[in-house]
Amino acid sequence: MAYSEKVVDHYENPRNVGSFAKDDDSVGTGMVGAPACGDVMKLQIKVNPVTGVIEDARFKTYGCGSAIASSSLVTEWVKGKTLDQAAALKNSEIAEELALPPVKIHCSILAEDAIKAAVNDYKQRHAAPAASAAVPETVN
Ligand code: FES
Repeated sequence: MAYSEKVVDHYENPRNVGSFAKDDDSVGTGMVGAPACGDVMKLQIKVNPVTGVIEDARFKTYGCGSAIASSSLVTEWVKGKTLDQAAALKNSEIAEELALPPVKIHCSILAEDAIKAAVNDYKQRHAAPAASAAVPETVN
């Protein structure tokens, strides 16, 4: 089976490979695995705490060419997006952009799961401030 040109491009020149420091407060991390093939993907986002916009992204994928290309593409796509926009990304958009064949659709699902997990991780780590702001203060 031949990979599409875009898959080969991302595979040979992956964008945004690497990782951010885990203790960085502005980072959300998503780590997911595909049970079918055992491939693993880690995707991280760096978020502007004031605007809620994703400013940077990194990935590390131990998997097939399509999984690497899907995660590389997602790190490019999410930059400049809000958390909700990034979480709304669909695997079908990835599969279409990369012209993935049916047997490789699960590789794009892995990338969708990874970005959702990264967004959720960031939101969970930052859930406290909004909640505490809602706590009424005693006014004298
Ligand atoms: Fe499983 Fe690509 S073959 S992620």
